[in-house]
Amino acid sequence: ASLEGRNTFRVPARARMLIDVRRREALAELFGFAMLKSAPLLVLGEGSNILFTRDWPGIVLSIAALGIEVREDDGERALVRVEAGESWNDFVRWSLGRGFCGLENLVLIPGTVGAAPIQNIGAYGVEVSEFIDHVEAWDRAAGELVRLSNPECRFGYRDSVFKHQRDRYIVTAVTFALSRSRPLRVDYAGVAEELAVLGIETPTAPAVAEAIARIRTRKLPNPALIGNAGSFFKNPVVTRAEATALGEANPGMPAWDGVDNQVKLSAAWLIESCGFKGLQQGHAAVSEQHALVLVNRGRATGSEVWALAERIRGAVTHRFGVDLEAEPLVL
Ligand code: EPU
Repeated sequence: ASLEGRNTFRVPARARMLIDVRRREALAELFGFAMLKSAPLLVLGEGSNILFTRDWPGIVLSIAALGIEVREDDGERALVRVEAGESWNDFVRWSLGRGFCGLENLVLIPGTVGAAPIQNIGAYGVEVSEFIDHVEAWDRAAGELVRLSNPECRFGYRDSVFKHQRDRYIVTAVTFALSRSRPLRVDYAGVAEELAVLGIETPTAPAVAEAIARIRTRKLPNPALIGNAGSFFKNPVVTRAEATALGEANPGMPAWDGVDNQVKLSAAWLIESCGFKGLQQGHAAVSEQHALVLVNRGRATGSEVWALAERIRGAVTHRFGVDLEAEPLVL
């Protein structure tokens, strides 16, 4: 089966078998087959955080189950259970339509609800882990559906237990704890300015969503128009001593204080400083809109995109002594 239409980089790749799973119950049946128990397994949502540099030798499961269910709603807080196949952005819009706030900063992030906890999607000062009560998953090791509480998911910056145990867990549903009175988060650079441009003095959650949608549309290439998987590298985290030395050598370098005396640097800034923004190599390129996004200018293979990524990593290490780590799953 072709995977070209199943990854937002739109690079060619094939799998031995592709199965669309529309009902969670089907997983128990599927894993009853000996072949599925042992075959290499890859789980895809919308394929918006993956780069194929080769064919997949096993089975691809596409999780497509739909449904949103409000479990407990006291008018102020609610538990909302969402099936893994729902579109993330549709769910954000749904939550805003019901008067919930919190998810507005995560508007327009591509992908499915089931994929959201895997890399703990985040944007504009908010991470999805702040809203997750628990995650339901098929546990291949145990051969049953399990429930992981928020701490059990071990969320970190673009990280979770699911990212480390890809062979083990297949996320089937996510239950969110949502509130109708959570304070808005407009502290991330550019958000307050965008609200001012819109002439909004007392922002509401939908207004913040509108402001962020405008920023994203300007800054990030739309995967529906040009193949990409969002940020290709994580923002690197270094020690305070390293950050201070780098800051002295590179005036104007952005840096954000993190936990445990660590400092987060801007991968986009490091890449742009090496002169890569807009650079094309073969059919792959660094977006001219955002230095952290690699794009497929039409006919790129995954290997071509990866070759460009390796070149960028080499240059950033050489110039700054900082290692960049790929953010999407690279196969
Ligand atoms: N910058 C540059 N050149 C560029 C773009 C940005 O130097 O071409 C510098 C600027 O100094 C800017 C800083 O980088 O102030 C930060 O840029 P931006 O606000 O766009 O955020 P980011 O750190 O590059 C992260 C996430 C994005 C998320 C944005 C907004 C990661 C790996 N990426 O990018 O998430 O949308 O913040 O919150 O953490 C994704 O994960 O796929 C993704 C798009």
